[in-house]
Amino acid sequence: MERTLVLLKPDAVKKSIIGKIISIYEDNGLVVEKLKMISPTRKLLRDHYEEHKDKPFFEELLSSLDGKELIAMVIRGDQAISAVRRLNGATDPSKAEDGTIRKLYGTSIRHNAVHGSSDHEAAEREIKIWFAG
Ligand code: RTP
Ligand code: MG
Repeated sequence: MERTLVLLKPDAVKKSIIGKIISIYEDNGLVVEKLKMISPTRKLLRDHYEEHKDKPFFEELLSSLDGKELIAMVIRGDQAISAVRRLNGATDPSKAEDGTIRKLYGTSIRHNAVHGSSDHEAAEREIKIWFAG
């Protein structure tokens, strides 16, 4: 059994498709263990996206999420980390496979509906960041 951190990003919240996205995870055997709506601070986002701090898109990425309502979830299941990433699809929705969440609901690489932890270490780190205490 694995746990992973999933974000339903502000673009998904605004489109009122969070239920549809959660259903995709649940229909594929994954279980929502924790869920909250939160408007993250820049500090929290900096910690979350630490691996990208030297990328040219880093500040723009933070700005696209800073202070906007999103859903943070802990999702568990068999191989949940890779299962979520497979269901999410490629980072760029225009390159995402048919049937994936990003193909269905993403509109650009920035507005790509969802986040899923990349590996075990990231999942543990990110769950602590979003669900401290
Ligand atoms: P995520 O972390 O959100 O699950 O997505 P990912 O692993 O597929 O993509 P990653 O490389 O970790 O990128 C994190 C988020 O940064 C934005 N991004 N913008 N070239 C760009 O402008 C660019 N590249 C990535 C995306 O919103 C991506 O989800
Ligand atoms: Mg990533």
